[in-house]
Amino acid sequence: MPVSAPAETDIPEVMVQTRKVDPNHAFPLGIPPLRTWARRMAGQVLSAELPRRWAHTQGVARRATEIARAFSPADGEVLVAAAWLHDIGYARELADTGMHQVDGARFLARRGVPHRVCALVAHHSGAAAVAGLCGLSGALAEFADEHTPVRDALWYCDMTTSPGGEPVSFPDRLAELRTRRGPDDAVVRALAVNEPERAAAVRRTEDLLRREAATAARCGPRWPPRWPRTRRVPATRPHAGSPE
Ligand SMILES: [Fe+2]
Repeated sequence: MPVSAPAETDIPEVMVQTRKVDPNHAFPLGIPPLRTWARRMAGQVLSAELPRRWAHTQGVARRATEIARAFSPADGEVLVAAAWLHDIGYARELADTGMHQVDGARFLARRGVPHRVCALVAHHSGAAAVAGLCGLSGALAEFADEHTPVRDALWYCDMTTSPGGEPVSFPDRLAELRTRRGPDDAVVRALAVNEPERAAAVRRTEDLLRREAATAARCGPRWPPRWPRTRRVPATRPHAGSPE
């Protein structure tokens, strides 16, 4: 599997690290927004080897894109990028510890992806409890759980998207997870610890989306406020390995 990405996916690390993560920010010529890079990278790593995981990832990213309006442009960009990348650690070539959140986050950190995105990937959907069961709490501690609405929203998107990428309720997602993985799987055993935390993240995000919808209804179509665009993001050729 070609994890060594071709030129378009290889953003120079220093440019990823120093540029502002803001969809309205003027990116250097030829450098795509973070979410575009994330989509291409996820497609390249997952689509051929793990097509069902790729379908799930596309569904999670679709959901994140839909709800990103509830956040500032910078936070929305981080949310969507993390959604594209959250399960990248399932790819065989990235496997190291065997815990996909940690393996994915470490891979992304090596590629120079902003640390906040790596940390969101590392901690998504109750990773701390899984790490505790697998003896990987030390590895996970390389990244901090930010405990913010953006973090909740990533968990929400993952927990309300089926393995095939369709929208699903949180209870149905948990039931499917238990059935598919079986009682001995660490992710299922970790539910004894992290199910309430997962449910709380989903509930907080649903509350946030309700408030955002109510505000939009009160304030009209210009809510949330439009952010000034400094320059159009330059068009880039789609990467051959990612769906358009
Ligand atoms: Fe996922």
